[in-house]
Amino acid sequence: MKLLGLGLVLLLAVVTCKAEEIMCEETTPFTCNQTDRFNRKHFDDDFIFGVASSAYQACAKGRGLNVWDGFTHRYPEKGGPDLGNGDNTCGSYEHWQKDIDVMTELGVDGYRFSLAWSRIILAGKVKKVGKEKRGINEAGVKYYNDLIDGLLAKNITPFITLFHWDLPQVLQDEYEGFLHRDIIFGDRVKNWITINQLYTVPTRGYAMGTDAPGRCSDWLNKDCYDGDSGREPYIVAHNQLLAHAEVVDLYRKKYKPKQGGQIGVVMITRWFIPYERNKEFFLGWFMEPLTKGKYPDIMRELVGGRLLNFSESEAKLVKGSYDFLGINYYQTQYVYAIPKNHPNRLTVMNDSLSAYTYENKEGPIGPWFNGDSYYHPRGTLNVLEHFKTKYGNPLVYITENGESLYILESGCNVKRYFAWSLGDNYEFDKGFTVRYRLNYVNFTNTTADRVLKTSGKWYKQFLNSTTKVPDENQNFLRSRLFFENHDQKKVADA
Ligand SMILES: *[C@@H]1O[C@H](CO)[C@@H](O)[C@H](O)[C@H]1NC(C)=O
Ligand SMILES: *[C@@H]1O[C@H](CO)[C@@H](O)[C@H](O)[C@H]1NC(C)=O
Ligand SMILES: *[C@@H]1O[C@H](CO)[C@@H](O)[C@H](O)[C@H]1NC(C)=O
Ligand SMILES: *[C@@H]1O[C@H](CO)[C@@H](O)[C@H](O)[C@H]1NC(C)=O
Ligand SMILES: *[C@@H]1O[C@H](CO)[C@@H](O)[C@H](O)[C@H]1NC(C)=O
Ligand SMILES: *[C@@H]1O[C@H](CO)[C@@H](O)[C@H](O)[C@H]1NC(C)=O
Repeated sequence: MKLLGLGLVLLLAVVTCKAEEIMCEETTPFTCNQTDRFNRKHFDDDFIFGVASSAYQACAKGRGLNVWDGFTHRYPEKGGPDLGNGDNTCGSYEHWQKDIDVMTELGVDGYRFSLAWSRIILAGKVKKVGKEKRGINEAGVKYYNDLIDGLLAKNITPFITLFHWDLPQVLQDEYEGFLHRDIIFGDRVKNWITINQLYTVPTRGYAMGTDAPGRCSDWLNKDCYDGDSGREPYIVAHNQLLAHAEVVDLYRKKYKPKQGGQIGVVMITRWFIPYERNKEFFLGWFMEPLTKGKYPDIMRELVGGRLLNFSESEAKLVKGSYDFLGINYYQTQYVYAIPKNHPNRLTVMNDSLSAYTYENKEGPIGPWFNGDSYYHPRGTLNVLEHFKTKYGNPLVYITENGESLYILESGCNVKRYFAWSLGDNYEFDKGFTVRYRLNYVNFTNTTADRVLKTSGKWYKQFLNSTTKVPDENQNFLRSRLFFENHDQKKVADA
């Protein structure tokens, strides 16, 4: 998805789930002087380190239109300050071999990418006439087959996200499409992610209108073409959960027995201080249904009739519908109470009766990081502990992390890490004004070879267990961490 933070400036601290050994200071002067002690040797042999990307952001060609095309063309300024969009991006469709070359050079063992619905099924839906399947784009299928085969040939494990925001919001009607995908790639792909960041589309897409499809209440923003920020997000979230659970059920019944793969969903997480109802509204909104088949009591209490109910059979379907959880973490925030909104001015963003900030009386929550966000690496650990204790220690994959990383050596059940992201690409809401990636892409000539950036070189060395990460790279990390411009408060992770 997106990231605050720079490319990978990956600050690696290895700690235990009990937070015994934290290598990096979190207050100024920021220092992190021990990253050179660690490399992949410190992790289990079956731990997968990878890189991630998403279809709309990385490869424009060879597909039909999706909601992000509609959104960025309707609201060019929302695509990014440079009016950027995914019409032409970094060429991962035409130049997938170059991507694989970069991954090979890095030495990663996993690649998380998403399938573009509109590349496989141009018209959005598969229609069957007798035995003939129509609407399937054979070139798109071939592209994904070639990519998967290319990855496997280099011992890079594919992790496929089915929905990374670029698909029509009609998942519930479209199981046939999902079904088709499983059939196409299921023989070689064992790791499936249904939906990227359950929180994002309901809130940014339907409450704030900052992401596709760009809906919100008109009292909030007259620009939004339509919407109801107090109701629609709950409906969308509910339908996402049901769509996700249906796909998992289908996978488990029809494919898993033969293929032995795993299926899960990605949560965007944040940590909140102090702990209160915010975690329920941000994490519990999805995690309570996924673990208990119901929404959190505090949401029921504060949201009332706007929050939908699961029927008994739906609750059963949703509960336990994951083999692993993908966790994306970027930031921690302070929370303060706000009064109830007027009933004509409801938005899901205010329903917790609290709002977020990065500063309290004692100052900012952490160093201002790369001119973009506040750095609070301990939040990753807090989130992981929360999932461990509250949600039954699920198998966790760190599916995106752009700012800092606490990987747990023991205690928490973490098995995968994916750095965001492989190459420079279109960034949701930021266009091409930021380059968060491990390798440099020349946007005016995507044919040109990709070049590993400093962050890429650092990751490469980290992954090569025979080398030490040299001091030069610690300086790199330090040089990227500085205070500036506390007024610029952006919340763009979710
Ligand atoms: C690492 O940083 C900490 C905190 O600034 C400092 O106390 C320690 O001496 C440093 N260690 C080394 C080896 O530089
Ligand atoms: C959901 O169920 C609760 C009680 O369990 C009820 O109060 C509420 O009205 C129901 N909401 C809807 C939208 O049906
Ligand atoms: C309520 O939510 C809106 C939209 O996200 C936000 O702009 C506003 O600041 C919130 N209200 C308060 C009192 O925090
Ligand atoms: C990017 O490609 C264009 C067109 O080939 C070229 O003019 C430009 O110098 C390249 N930029 C870099 C930084 O290599
Ligand atoms: C793009 O880069 C490739 C490889 O470096 C080069 O052969 C080609 O001439 C460049 N294209 C343009 C339009 O500059
Ligand atoms: C890892 O580092 C060693 C020593 O520098 C080097 O010989 C080897 O080629 C590297 N391996 C990879 C995969 O880059």
